Amino acid sequence: MEVKRVNINDLAPGMLIADNVYNSANQLIVPRDVVLTDKAITRMRFHSISSARVYFSDESSDNSSASTPPKDNREASFFEKLRETDEFVAFNKDFEKSIPIFEKKLNAMLKGNSEPDNDTLIGIVDDMFYSCRTGIQLFNLLHCMRNFDDVTFSHSINVSLICGVLATWLNRSKTEVELLMQCGIYHDIGKLMIPKAVLDKPGKLSPEEFALIKTHTTQGYNILKERKLPREVKLAAMMHHERCDGSGYPMRLKGNQIEECAKILAIADVYEAMTSPRIYRKALCPFEVIRLFEIDGLSLFDPVYLLPFMENISQSYVGNMVKLSDDSIGQIIFINKLSYSRPIIKMANGEYVDLSKESGRSIVAIL
Ligand SMILES: [Fe+2]
Repeated sequence: MEVKRVNINDLAPGMLIADNVYNSANQLIVPRDVVLTDKAITRMRFHSISSARVYFSDESSDNSSASTPPKDNREASFFEKLRETDEFVAFNKDFEKSIPIFEKKLNAMLKGNSEPDNDTLIGIVDDMFYSCRTGIQLFNLLHCMRNFDDVTFSHSINVSLICGVLATWLNRSKTEVELLMQCGIYHDIGKLMIPKAVLDKPGKLSPEEFALIKTHTTQGYNILKERKLPREVKLAAMMHHERCDGSGYPMRLKGNQIEECAKILAIADVYEAMTSPRIYRKALCPFEVIRLFEIDGLSLFDPVYLLPFMENISQSYVGNMVKLSDDSIGQIIFINKLSYSRPIIKMANGEYVDLSKESGRSIVAIL
């Protein structure tokens, strides 16, 4: 049997995994020689695993249907239509303009060992943040963005904006909203100290490379600690990869040992990673992301912040038409409080379907 590396988007239930699959904390997610299930693929997506090695029989490796990536047509017309609007075109233009400014200002801070130009950076994200009518509209616009080459700067802007929306949903004051947006701007600054060849390396990292990437948290803190920035911004850089169950890094902190700003930022950081289009996959539908959080997220992230986040996103789509995994179409009527990703749907034939009572079907696209 031949072994091939397959992108996450092309993995399918029934494939046989050839290597152990580990997450960024080196925990085993899927053991080798296991037949993939939907749940296992979902777990891998949740942990931002980009690919896995699977066995192909000699017959199937010759057969184009086995090795050709399945068509992913889950991207819905809702986002296609939004992409055509003047609002998106203007937002995208502002975003594209802001990336080189971020790059210049953050690099200047490192090279010149100077104070950050906080007013310019916060001004850029503020303008984008307040140009949107609602938080969910901002999320929808971000969902439509193309894949930027420079992941670090566009990721920092996105995370900053998502932090702002989440802080608003948590009923925080304007000052606290701005503080959390600042946490987003600087949280990954330590990545500027990591060689690009390691940061952008496709495929599996060696243990040494992975250890190096993990230092972006402490390196970020060291860059920020003497600068004129709020304490929360510095601690968010240090702690945004800590997880409530102690599985994170760099200090394996648990629950309340993790600063609030870092816990909120961690949710925005992971949400951004899952909803941004990547080279190896399209952006996930918001309900798929919520489903991933429901499966694995409640022990990793503080439910005090995660539950309002999931509730606000899901409630925003009540009334929208959606496509289900069996290609049927319906309208979201009611969000289930115990299962945000599985609302009650009114189907085209007038029948009501409670997805929380069905294990087979889920929402795959917003129409
Ligand atoms: Fe990070």
